[in-house]
Amino acid sequence: MQEFEAIESIRQHLGALRSTKRTIALVPTMGALHQGHLALVAAARESADIVVLSIFVNPLQFLPGEDLARYPRPLEHDRALADAHGVDILFVPRAEEMYHGTPETRVVPGATADRWEGAHRPGHFAGVLTVVAKLLNIVQPHVAVFGQKDIQQVTLVRRMVADLDIPVALVSVVTVREADGLALSSRNVFLSETDRSAALAIPRALAAMRGRWADGERDGRALERVAATVFAGTPRVKPDYIAVVDPDQLAPVEHAAQGTVAAVAARVGSTRLIDNIIFGEEPG
Ligand code: PAJ
Repeated sequence: MQEFEAIESIRQHLGALRSTKRTIALVPTMGALHQGHLALVAAARESADIVVLSIFVNPLQFLPGEDLARYPRPLEHDRALADAHGVDILFVPRAEEMYHGTPETRVVPGATADRWEGAHRPGHFAGVLTVVAKLLNIVQPHVAVFGQKDIQQVTLVRRMVADLDIPVALVSVVTVREADGLALSSRNVFLSETDRSAALAIPRALAAMRGRWADGERDGRALERVAATVFAGTPRVKPDYIAVVDPDQLAPVEHAAQGTVAAVAARVGSTRLIDNIIFGEEPG
C-alpha cells in the first residue's frame, strides 16, 4: 500500500496508472475504519483494478458545536486495516492541503439537502458535496463507493454527479451491522454500555416497520407511527425524525412501495445515530 498526503503527488502517481489503462475506485472516508468501511473497500476491489481509500475528517461538514474535535482519528490502526484489506493507495491529506488559502467556492446542493439530516445540520451537505467533488477531481476515479447507511448523502452525491456531469460511476453498498442489528458507525465508540443497548431501539424500530410493511401496511404515516411506538418504549433514545420517503427526493410518500426508504435519526445520550432500510430489500 502506498500513502500520499499531497494532492500533486497522488495525482502524478494516479496519472501514470491511468495511462496503463487500469481502472480506479475511490472509497472516501473520515477514518476510524470499521467493517462497514471495509465492505466498501471490498466492493471497490470488485469494481476496479486499483483501490484508493481517502481518510479526511472534513472540517467543512461539521457545524459549530459538533464533534469535529473529538472525532476519532486512529490513523495507525486505520493504515493497518486498509493495508490488510487490499487498499492500494491511501490518501490522507491535511486540512491545509485540502483547503489551501481561503477557498470561496462551495458545491451548493438543492432542496433535498434541506430535509432530514440537512434540517438538523444546516450546511452539512454543502460541506460533504464540496469535499466529495474535490476528492473526485483529485483522484478522478472510474468508480466511487458509498454506504447506504448515509442514504441522504448517497442521494445527494448521485444528484451532484448527474447535475455537474462528473464522469464517475457510483456504487452503493448495503449497511453492515453488528450481530444484534446496530449499524456500524465510527460514532458508536461514544456510546456507554447502557446507551449501546438502548440504541438497539433504532434497528428494532426499522425492523418493526419492515415487518408491518411485509404484512401489507403501505400507509407512510402509519408505518412512521409503528417506529414512533418503539421509540416511545425507550425514553433514553430520542428520535429526531422518522421518515418514510421516496429514494430520489427523500420526500414523504403516502404509499410505501418496493424501494421506498424508511430513515431514522435518534439521539442516545450525546450521540446522534442514523439508520435506514429500503422496503423490499435486505436490511444488511
Ligand atoms: P464516513 O462516516 O467515514 O463514512 C465513509 C463511508 O462509509 C460512507 O459512504 C458511509 O456511508 C460508509 N459507511 C459508514 N458506516 C457504514 C456501515 N455500517 N455499512 C456500510 N457503509 C458504511 O460519510 C463520510 O465519512 C463523509 O461524509 C465523506 C463521504 C467521507 C465525506 O467527507
